[in-house]
Amino acid sequence: ALQPGATGPLTGRHVLITSGPTHEPIDPVRYIANRSSGKQGHAIAEAAIEAGATVTLVSGPVSLPDPAGARIIRVETAREMLDAVEHALPADLFVATAAVADWRPSRQNDSKLKKHSDGEPLALSLIENPDILATVGRSASARPRLVIGFAAETDRLLEHATAKLDRKGCDMIVANDVGPTTGVMGGDRNTVHLVTRAGIESWPTLSKIDVARRLIARCAETLTGILP
Ligand code: CTP
Ligand code: CA
Repeated sequence: ALQPGATGPLTGRHVLITSGPTHEPIDPVRYIANRSSGKQGHAIAEAAIEAGATVTLVSGPVSLPDPAGARIIRVETAREMLDAVEHALPADLFVATAAVADWRPSRQNDSKLKKHSDGEPLALSLIENPDILATVGRSASARPRLVIGFAAETDRLLEHATAKLDRKGCDMIVANDVGPTTGVMGGDRNTVHLVTRAGIESWPTLSKIDVARRLIARCAETLTGILP
């Protein structure tokens, strides 16, 4: 960690990170969510602070301590996350680690849904949420110089990650295998593959903070090459 007044490789840079899941309300007491713990995103915020950056962390609901020194914006839904991200720009580096819910209920009920008295199934209609990473990565006016996405895949990992690189206007996709044999979601370790237009680099299984530190070091190097 930096001593007060010391400078690091990201001193003077603004790093914007999304982390955690989003919650999409069905009614006042129920929501749709996913198994993201926020550990990898919060670790990236810590590593960026260690490297001297000014860090904004937009976080969905997680049960983790706040990384010391980051500006934290807490949100619940994907649409709130997009709004917070857009307000936090400009940034030099955007890292999208959040597991944004792909869908939300098409209508939010103002009162608690009651069971059908006849035991009929409940049909929920879902609509797609905005894609935060694609919005930032393809922004004509506010695109950070470096835009990095994550992709948790259970199968055909590299093929899916490569497609996301282009679709979302990213410089890099950090693909992690969440198949049954490797990185179970919520754990403390991660096995990742860096997918860029230059090719694919596979890292050994590391703790999430080590993945974060190596990734931030790589981003700092790249930014030094492209920014004044
Ligand atoms: N992402 C985002 N907003 C969304 C969905 C995804 O910002 N609405 C970001 C995630 O934070 C991640 C990247 O996009 O960095 C890839 O997420 P992923 O769920 O793998 O991609 P999707 O496009 O949602 O595709 P899939 O059908 O595989 O879920
Ligand atoms: Ca998704």
